[in-house]
Amino acid sequence: MAIIQGRPVGILGTGMSLPERVVTNRDLEKIVNTSDEWIVQRSGIHTRRMASAGESNASLAAVSALAAMRAAAVPADDIDMIMVGTNSPDTLFPGVAPIVQSMTGASRAGGMDVQAGCPGALFAMAAAAGGIASGIWDNVVVIGSEVMTPLVDQTDRSTCVLFGDGAGACVMGPWREGALRVTHADMKADGSKSDLISLPGGLSALPANERTLREKMHFLKMNGREVFKFVSRELPDYLANFCQSCGITCDEVDWWIFHQANIRIIEYVCERMKIPMDRVIINLDRYGNTSAASIMIALHESLGCGTIRRGQRTVITSFGAGMTYGAILAES
Ligand code: ACO
Repeated sequence: MAIIQGRPVGILGTGMSLPERVVTNRDLEKIVNTSDEWIVQRSGIHTRRMASAGESNASLAAVSALAAMRAAAVPADDIDMIMVGTNSPDTLFPGVAPIVQSMTGASRAGGMDVQAGCPGALFAMAAAAGGIASGIWDNVVVIGSEVMTPLVDQTDRSTCVLFGDGAGACVMGPWREGALRVTHADMKADGSKSDLISLPGGLSALPANERTLREKMHFLKMNGREVFKFVSRELPDYLANFCQSCGITCDEVDWWIFHQANIRIIEYVCERMKIPMDRVIINLDRYGNTSAASIMIALHESLGCGTIRRGQRTVITSFGAGMTYGAILAES
């Protein structure tokens, strides 16, 4: 069952925050053996943002959260919970969320990180919706925030050209007129594919030592081709079934917000599902794959510039390390 029962839940306001530094494909040509042509053709990415010293995961998250709280007209003291979907916390503990609590002055709020691969913020939105619907919380800040740059081997051309840094946030609360209403949510995991994307070293399984450093186990490893195959195989049927469980057909969805990993994956899934590309939100050309932040940044941009209009349905969907995937339906 994908339906969210209880109090109607809304997205009351959104925000985003990006690092200053813009890195182009041409910039990367100077660092690794790659080309603008290869990157654009294989991924659709032209530029990405990379965090510099002083731009921490928590600081990007807090700026995006404050913007969302302003947009929602919900003061910091009225926030009950902060959830941060992230795969690149500044430290394993404390998590990002407690630092954001302090930075935003959300004096009454709890805080927790949701580490679920790229769908981390999507899973957090689903958990927030359940908590608001049932009355555990009134106002929840959900953030997707990543500083992936230090976790990606900047000499590995197969990964360093793909990722970017940034944060996006929303305030969720009891639905009110004019807000996007979150009506359905679903989450999946397939741990049998856990080897496709991982960061194996430096934690309890493989504590940091000379070997883990030498073998660069403290960097993200990705079998890009197999990730591509997995997502292309699973996502179309999954999304068709999700729509069915929401009581709609895929044709009745006005906007699709996909995890911004790779234009070719999105195009393939859309082709299989017969979704016209002019109904798909794309910003990976500018920001690359910002992991858990990507759907939140895309949501903010598409609401902010009036792309999603009154009376329209939007499916937000993501996939990533785990493997994990999921979807949310929201109606305006
Ligand atoms: N520049 C130039 N050549 C490159 C580069 C590069 N940056 N990277 C790899 N190559 C080369 C490879 O070495 C290979 O050369 P070879 O044929 O001589 O061996 C050739 O390009 C083809 O490599 P493939 O890996 O087969 O290229 P592919 O077309 O599969 O594209 C890519 C690679 C872009 C990673 C693709 O597989 C992909 O996008 N996969 C999905 C990844 C993904 O979606 N991840 C996100 C989910 S997880 C998360 O967000 C954390």
